[in-house]
Parts: sequence; C-alpha cells; structure tokens
Amino acid sequence: MAELVVALDLPSGREALALAARLPALKWVKLGSMLYVREGPALLRELTARGVRVFLDLKWHDIPSVVAAAVEAARELGAAMATVHCLGGSAMLSAAATAAAGELALVGVTVLTSHDAADFEQVVGRGVPDLSFEAERLARIALQAGLRGVVASGRELALLREALGPDPWIVVPAVRAPGDLPGDQARTVTPQDAVRGGATHLVVGRPITLAKDPGGVYQRFMETL
Ligand code: C5P
Repeated sequence: MAELVVALDLPSGREALALAARLPALKWVKLGSMLYVREGPALLRELTARGVRVFLDLKWHDIPSVVAAAVEAARELGAAMATVHCLGGSAMLSAAATAAAGELALVGVTVLTSHDAADFEQVVGRGVPDLSFEAERLARIALQAGLRGVVASGRELALLREALGPDPWIVVPAVRAPGDLPGDQARTVTPQDAVRGGATHLVVGRPITLAKDPGGVYQRFMETL
C-alpha cells in the first residue's frame, strides 16, 4: 500500500505539532526548508518521539563530503527519508548513499517541476527535447549510486515506474483529490492515479494543512489508498 506523507509547510513548530496531533494514526510527515530552518532538529526529534516518521526535504546539492556529513547528521537525528538533487552527480550521490547506511531512505530530485525544457536547457547547456527522458536518465544515475528512489511528478510517474522496475520508491508531490484547490501547483495528480502509476509515497500539503477539518481530510485520503 502507498504511504501518505503530510507536508508540514506551516509557519511554526507549535502549529505543526498541533496539526500533527489532529491527524489520526499519522505515520509520515515532510519537513521542508521553511519549517526546518525555523525550528531545526528539536522539531524533528519531537515528531519522531511521537512515533511519526520524518521525511526531511532539504534537497541537498553540494560537494560529496558535505552532503555525506549532512546525511549522516540526518540519520543520527532519526529522519526516515531525505532528498538530494540528482544533478549533484554520481560521486555526491554515492557518498550520500554510503552515509545513509541503509537506515535513512534517500530519494533523488530529478528535474524540478518548476523547470520547463528551456530552463533545463540553460542549466545543462544543450538541447533538451524531452524532460521525461532527462528525469529517467537522472533517476537511473541515482539508483546506480545506491539511492532508495526518486521524487517524481504525476507527469513522468508511470514512465519512471516502467523504466525502473518495481523496487525503487517513487515519491509524488502535488497530490489533489477531485475538488481540491491546486494552489500554485500547475500539474496535480489524484491519489488514485498516483497509486495506479506506481507511487509508493504521496505527499499532500495544503489540502490537509489548510482544511477546516484536517483530520477528516487526512482520513479520506487514507481511505483512497
Ligand atoms: O501544499 P502542497 O500539497 O502543494 O505541497 C506539496 C509539497 O511537496 C510541498 O512541501 C512542496 O515543497 C513539495 N514539492 C512540490 N513539488 C515538487 C517537489 C516537492 O510541491 N516538484
């Protein structure tokens, strides 16, 4: 069964913990840059002490030794999953995977969904006829380096699952139930389509964090899984 991950994109740790307490049998949360920079390891420790698995989404991209040290620190802190950028290259990804030591699941960001082909062409300095192909190419590099999986949008999900086989984790953000507001997400995917496409983890933020009854919305997402 796919896992539901609640993105705690809230302004303070107090609000994040209050929300977590309202979600029945909460298993996974995602801490992103905004809240982690504000609240740091104390919030991560508090969430894990409550039995919640933390996905630390800081999207590391640096020299191999620095990324490896950050991964080691996240592992020691008790994070269950974390992100690195596949564009950091094989040496960085391998160093990160070694530091994760099989205790922390590392997933690679392939092509940022905020990038279109023209943006990506500027980054890599060559023509890019197909962004899905680039996502698949980078995903293969990440898995070869020993990562547990990748982050993918609904757009390339089915293609990646087909190309990578059944084992790797595929984490999918921008999940919306029919009728949910997209917010600033240009391309959303329903939970049903994400699961059908082979997602292992569905990341949902605002449909739950902004709801009047977050517990009820969380429960309905869980039922669709
Ligand atoms: O509120 P919403 O459900 O749109 O939140 C989605 C979460 O997934 C946010 O925390 C965002 O940082 C993250 N994310 C995303 N799109 C990506 C990668 C990550 O929205 N391509």
